[in-house]
Amino acid sequence: MKFFVDTADVAAIRELNDLGMVDGVTTNPSLILKSGRDIAEVTKEICDIVSGPVSAEVVAANADDMIREGKHLAKIASNITVKVPLTWDGLKACKVLSSEGHMVNVTLCFSAAQAILAAKAGATFISPFIGRLDDINLDGMQLIEDIRTIYDNYSFETQILAASIRSVNHITDAARVGADVITAPPAVIKGMVNHVLTDKGLDQFNADWAKTGQKIG
Ligand code: E4P
Repeated sequence: MKFFVDTADVAAIRELNDLGMVDGVTTNPSLILKSGRDIAEVTKEICDIVSGPVSAEVVAANADDMIREGKHLAKIASNITVKVPLTWDGLKACKVLSSEGHMVNVTLCFSAAQAILAAKAGATFISPFIGRLDDINLDGMQLIEDIRTIYDNYSFETQILAASIRSVNHITDAARVGADVITAPPAVIKGMVNHVLTDKGLDQFNADWAKTGQKIG
């Protein structure tokens, strides 16, 4: 399973990348806003740190403008993945950009039907949004499972990029049902290390070690 970091926070990306935890990065207009940085500048900086795919999202509504924006973003670095929304225009842009050799991430996917269209349009990645489905009492993980079954049935090569991840359980469940990639905020990825029994066990070992009066090295 590949780990993408869902952020435009360069320091957070660098910290996780140094640990070998980053296979790619996803950004979106809201994350660029949160970073307070210029999109071209911050995206370039991220691409200089991370060698895997870095998603940068177009904002146009029609296909021609999305293609123009996508090509502009793709010039930032060779590992840019152009992110387009799951609309007819987004699918048209996906088809053109992927045919021309660009990686494309089709975002804002909320149904298996949409995921089939993205695969047929040549998407490199499909981004089903788990958390936003859960927010409206639908089952985000079931969507990942359904897309996995469908893509496997027809050997679609589009990678399932589980997005809108809000918890550690989202990550482990996405891994269990066969998502190819997860993209999660840095805090959620870092939260994967936590376990109350690890803390308790470490406290016990430290207390017992102190009683031995020994030193290592
Ligand atoms: C995916 O590429 C999106 O950037 C992201 O996962 C959206 O997550 P959110 O629903 O928490 O905003």
